[in-house]
Amino acid sequence: MTLWKGRISTEMAEAVATFTVSLPFDQALAPDDLAGSRAHVKGLGKIGILTDGEVAHLLDTLALVEEEFATGAFVFAPGDEDIHTAVERRVTELAGDAVGAKLHTGRSRNDQVATDLRLWCRRSLVGVASEIMALQDALAQRAREAADVYLPGYTHMQRAQPVLLAHHLLAHGWALARDVDRLLVTVDRLNISPLGAGALAGSSLPLDPDFVAAELGFHGHFENSLDAVADRDFVAEALFDIALLGVHLSRMGEELVLWSTEEFGFCTFDDAYATGSSMLPQKKNPDVAELARGKAGRFIGHLTGLLVTLKGLPLSYNRDLQEDKEPLIDAVSQITLALRALSGLFATVEFHHDRMQAAADGSAAAAVDLAEYLVEKGVPFRKAHSLVAGLVRDSIERHVTLSELVQAHPDLGDEGAKLLEPGVAVSRRTTPGGAGSAAVSEQLERFSRRLGVDRTRLGVLAGEEQPNLASS
Ligand code: ARG
Repeated sequence: MTLWKGRISTEMAEAVATFTVSLPFDQALAPDDLAGSRAHVKGLGKIGILTDGEVAHLLDTLALVEEEFATGAFVFAPGDEDIHTAVERRVTELAGDAVGAKLHTGRSRNDQVATDLRLWCRRSLVGVASEIMALQDALAQRAREAADVYLPGYTHMQRAQPVLLAHHLLAHGWALARDVDRLLVTVDRLNISPLGAGALAGSSLPLDPDFVAAELGFHGHFENSLDAVADRDFVAEALFDIALLGVHLSRMGEELVLWSTEEFGFCTFDDAYATGSSMLPQKKNPDVAELARGKAGRFIGHLTGLLVTLKGLPLSYNRDLQEDKEPLIDAVSQITLALRALSGLFATVEFHHDRMQAAADGSAAAAVDLAEYLVEKGVPFRKAHSLVAGLVRDSIERHVTLSELVQAHPDLGDEGAKLLEPGVAVSRRTTPGGAGSAAVSEQLERFSRRLGVDRTRLGVLAGEEQPNLASS
């Protein structure tokens, strides 16, 4: 039997029950529902709706229910539509009808679910950010180890200029730093309590939304009760942050797939992070990198699906909003798995420095250095560019090495030819943020400092989460 049985005369049709039930997925919100209920009970005590004895009794009962969830002893009943009704039903069973029936005073599932979901997002997104940081750590570690190893940098998937391997790895690291920032800003924005909005219009009881907000570690309470129960912007933002992070992981996955081919031969995966083929005995497949690439489709789908659900909804709560949870919970769990697998993949992959450097040592990769050498001698860049392009074309058409042509050229000679020697071009990328050694060591320093700052930000948010998780 449902908790709202009074108004509806018959039992719910089976097809309706199975269609509308959200318990299979919203039970993930149990810790948040219990935290929200504790704050609500204390709030009702503060305004005198509950006596001190009733508050103590309900808080003890909520602690018992929390214990049941923690130990797996909690048993759901057939009438439990969602986690909110399941918790209320069990509290009433344990505490007795007289006090249990007071738990939902001044509260609706509409403000309750919005509160629970914000609490869930807060702790889950902080969790995703810390998984990103583990991947950043792996990248920084590999960048440090890579020292002066270089490989071709590509544009249009064509070899363009040599870059340090560390520089390439850190490029992904900085994109991930923006992902961490986006998640933390999203958490900051969603850190607002909807509790006290009631079903949609607030309450005739003297509820104190500020008090419950503070109890839950929220920065403040809603400004508008309709908005409080109708808003799922924060879910869309979380899904966007995860979708974009997923796109970044996808890019990294695609590169690793390419790098591990025989054609590139830039890396070999550790056996623990590779898979075999069921038919072809010789195969070692890059499934982790491929799935890191493939999951992006799912994350983008989740974001798109939710936006479409939200777009036609009038104020305020509509049951459509229940569709927010599955994509969100799935996105968080899948991105967490992807981040952990990629962190391990990066930590253990063997980079083949010789293959990388050989690919980058093709003399044409230093062509722009020749042009810039001429610029330093006063030749206008456009003229220098065309002169060097002519030499490259000649070398291809006449099957002569570029180095020989450069040596023979009166404006270039030996000094010019030296620029084409292996490892020289990358060492000349000296500008801040550039791909050469000095700039990259400075970058690595800045990156490590950034990781330190972000760790502190994460620690502060994890600390704010305490009131939510502490049972009192
Ligand atoms: N399971 C519902 C959801 O996720 C909880 C809120 C139900 N509210 C209601 N008025 N039926 O949205």
